[in-house]
Amino acid sequence: MTKKQELKNRNIKSLYVHIPYCEHICFYCDFAKTIKPKSKENVIEYLNNLENELISYENRLDNLETIYIGGGTPSCLDEEETILLLKSLSKYVKNNKDFEFSIELNPESVSETKLKIYKEYKINRISMGIQTFNNDLLKKIGRIHDKDLAVEKFNLIRTIGFDNISIDLMYNLFNQTKENIIEDLEYIKQLKPDHISWYSLIMKDNSIWGKKNLKKPENDEFFDVIVNEGLKKLGYKRYEISNYCLNNKISKHNLSYWDNSLFAGVGFGASGFELINKKYYLTINEGTILNYQKKFEELSIEDYYFQIIMMGLRLVDGINISLEKNKDAYLFYKEKIEINIKKGFLLLENNYLKCNDKGFDILNDILVDIL
Ligand SMILES: C[S@@+](CC[C@H](N)C(=O)[O-])C[C@H]1O[C@@H](n2cnc3c(N)ncnc32)[C@H](O)[C@@H]1O
Ligand code: SF4
Repeated sequence: MTKKQELKNRNIKSLYVHIPYCEHICFYCDFAKTIKPKSKENVIEYLNNLENELISYENRLDNLETIYIGGGTPSCLDEEETILLLKSLSKYVKNNKDFEFSIELNPESVSETKLKIYKEYKINRISMGIQTFNNDLLKKIGRIHDKDLAVEKFNLIRTIGFDNISIDLMYNLFNQTKENIIEDLEYIKQLKPDHISWYSLIMKDNSIWGKKNLKKPENDEFFDVIVNEGLKKLGYKRYEISNYCLNNKISKHNLSYWDNSLFAGVGFGASGFELINKKYYLTINEGTILNYQKKFEELSIEDYYFQIIMMGLRLVDGINISLEKNKDAYLFYKEKIEINIKKGFLLLENNYLKCNDKGFDILNDILVDIL
């Protein structure tokens, strides 16, 4: 495809929908969220604004391949609110089996009735935030569920008939031991989630812990080895730096963030990557929950190329540089990339530029070097 054709033919492939409400605030979290207001009117107003934002995209959301409802905590919407949201989204949902429609849930707000509603409105992928199966750690990080509830709700989700369940876990939490991780791996062995996102704690300035100036423990590598090796033994394929799956059930939605696809973000705090009048923009919805505006940041060609490298190197398969758009990014940064290949952090194999294991451990340093 020539550059001209590429600019003409690119459609928005994925839609992210943000629900900024939570029942509690975890100590590590700086995502766009607030405690769910008691007044239902506020929530309904937010959902109505969301629908208007979707309508403002006119026909630009006609070719979606994935929708992801994230948060915050989408499962803290009650049944009426959930139906209102899903009705607004239903016209974008395709009937084909490849269409991926995900929602994020917290164990404490999962219910049989809501799960049946999700199914009725064609949600086919569930992502549940568990973080750890250790009750003491769960308390220490500010969660309100315990491991038994997580297991109970996971099994309920399966019983209702969802065959694509992801769980979120975290490592490098304060006082988390090797034994804690091994315990988490035991639960994984028993539950067999189809997909796992297992992130190292990121200390965010705007989180409760960040505001207290707490520093992150420095043993990433130690846990990397236990997590990676442990999941490998259980048959999980690592396809992104922090994401693993069974039976190739990758997150198609998240892949669109990493492989330079276009995506729209709606709702307070949501971000997107859009092509408008042949120019690339990062978008972010800023303001307040009930009154936000979309801000557009035009990407210079250099920023655009850097984004391709930065996101693509997160993938285990790396960046396909035989594709025109990726090749240009590669050529733009070729000199620095080759230095990192010589250092043994990156490799170029069958037209794919990727990190080796050592490179994954220091990806941020490599990116700073390339920039
Ligand atoms: C923002 S939450 C939204 C979903 C849901 N409310 C939950 O808590 O699972 C999505 C995931 O991001 C991850 N996360 C949030 N803050 C993080 C941080 N500071 N460091 C690492 N992972 C984080 C957690 O694993 C969490 O499950
Ligand atoms: S991690 Fe999830 S539940 Fe906790 S505050 Fe963040 S969005 Fe809310």
